Amino acid sequence: MSCRSELSSWKALEQSATKLKQQHLKTLFAQDPARFAKFSCQIPGVLFDYSKQLIDDEVFSQLVSLAEQTDIATWRSKMFSGEKINFTEQRAVLHVALRNRANSPIMVDGEDVMPLVNTELAKIKAFTEKVRGGQWLGYTQKPVQDVVAIGVGGSNLGPQMVTEALKNYADDTLNVHYVSNVDGVQLAGVLKNLNPETTLFVVSSKTFTTSETMTNARSAVKWFLEHAQQQEAIAKHFVAVSTNLDKTREFGIADENVFTMWDWVGGRFSLWSAIGLPIALYVGFERFIEVLEGAFEIDEHFQNTSFDKNIPLIMALLSVWNSSFLGHTAQAILPYDQALHMLPAYLQQGEMESNGKHVTFAGNAVPYTTVPLIWGMTGINGQHAFYQYLHQGNTVVPADFIASLKPQVDVGQHHDILLSNFFAQTEAMMTGVDEQQVRADLTAKGKSEQEIEQLLAHKIHQGNRPTTSILLDIVDAKAVGRLIALYEHKIFCQGILLQICSFDQWGVELGKGLASTIEAELTKEGVSNPHDSSTAGLIAYYKNNR
Ligand code: F6P
Repeated sequence: MSCRSELSSWKALEQSATKLKQQHLKTLFAQDPARFAKFSCQIPGVLFDYSKQLIDDEVFSQLVSLAEQTDIATWRSKMFSGEKINFTEQRAVLHVALRNRANSPIMVDGEDVMPLVNTELAKIKAFTEKVRGGQWLGYTQKPVQDVVAIGVGGSNLGPQMVTEALKNYADDTLNVHYVSNVDGVQLAGVLKNLNPETTLFVVSSKTFTTSETMTNARSAVKWFLEHAQQQEAIAKHFVAVSTNLDKTREFGIADENVFTMWDWVGGRFSLWSAIGLPIALYVGFERFIEVLEGAFEIDEHFQNTSFDKNIPLIMALLSVWNSSFLGHTAQAILPYDQALHMLPAYLQQGEMESNGKHVTFAGNAVPYTTVPLIWGMTGINGQHAFYQYLHQGNTVVPADFIASLKPQVDVGQHHDILLSNFFAQTEAMMTGVDEQQVRADLTAKGKSEQEIEQLLAHKIHQGNRPTTSILLDIVDAKAVGRLIALYEHKIFCQGILLQICSFDQWGVELGKGLASTIEAELTKEGVSNPHDSSTAGLIAYYKNNR
């Protein structure tokens, strides 16, 4: 398989990048009144506008050729048909099976996985209804009031992000709390206000070996037993979500209280599985299904839409264009919707754990920049924090702006004010303010020539900052499903375009292994290991002064 940089489309894009770097988006808009119509797509519930990206017709067709030459269509079929495209771990990649609302068979190793998916969904439904309906009783025969979801990374970020996004659709049936940090302050803070008689713990870990999650789960059991004083009460207050039944048994959770998933579900793509149980407990099973339905719509769109209108593919192509060709090494995610406030954190794992890699499929060093650093926060808060950098910093950070047409809660003029900021920021980042405009403005304000000369350079905004705008109808369960699935398929396409295996995460294993060695040094007498002088000095300082 030849390296991507040897493809004719890649070479053509390199040449185009040299040309486009001399262009200003303002000029491209002025030259082509049809730019918005040309570079935007609409599907039910989503308007996707990428006309403010630094591309022209030629670049767009070169990008589409890149998708063709990298065989995206074949890879896409491989993923949807259960081939083991996570080849470093020999696993299929089938989060799409979890939301396959058509229920068409999907085979892995000669077995249709859909009956497994449906059985687990039925189990989630029954459990959710029992807990929410007040029939699941604790050790003192009281119904559950609080759910504590313990998990980290993919076993936390997805469910928590969706729970936050759908808060306004939840009734008062249950409170759901999340604990991900092994810093005991988080767990203690949550448990402080809870009644063990009415608290249910959901311990979510695909492997059931993740140290942070296991530590939190063990402390939760300890807290619980201090109150309940009866081992058998655990069965009424602890359930698990995992692929590892041996470990859940060893931990003391009965098999009937374990919700399963499979090795073909990657952690960061797992919220559609039983890992999403806390979502279903919070907003109800029907709404959880709506999240799956929204994602399924995007799966259909991704599979059946031509490349030039295929939103997740275009998202990936633009990302590759921005980072590998234009040299922008960061990307901001800026939701103008409070409900999506955790989206940047969620996408950090999604994109960076998937594609933050340095070798190709064949294990050779990639000779181009791969994915950008993903960061962000709600746009409005960002405006008063880091937008100065986005507007006038001397590195360009392309950004995704995400908003909805209708607010989840209508409070007077708030939504119009919010959206006016969204439109203003994307416009300002594109147009900027040139010298002539600054001069005219300062003159109109009665400034002297000397004052103008002093201020001029400071007030110039170069503009030409690429943005994509995504407008949802309203942030509801379906919309959340659609949005996440768009990004998931973007991540998949990025991997193929960059020739990177998106579904493993060897890079996080190194730190994990070292931490467990050092843990023994901190917790056991007489254990010490060789370290560099900095690490040795830090450990010694900690041990001597803790
Ligand atoms: O440390 C990274 C990671 O392996 C993620 O990929 C995963 O989502 C997270 O840890 C949690 O893993 P688990 O669900 O097995 O506890």
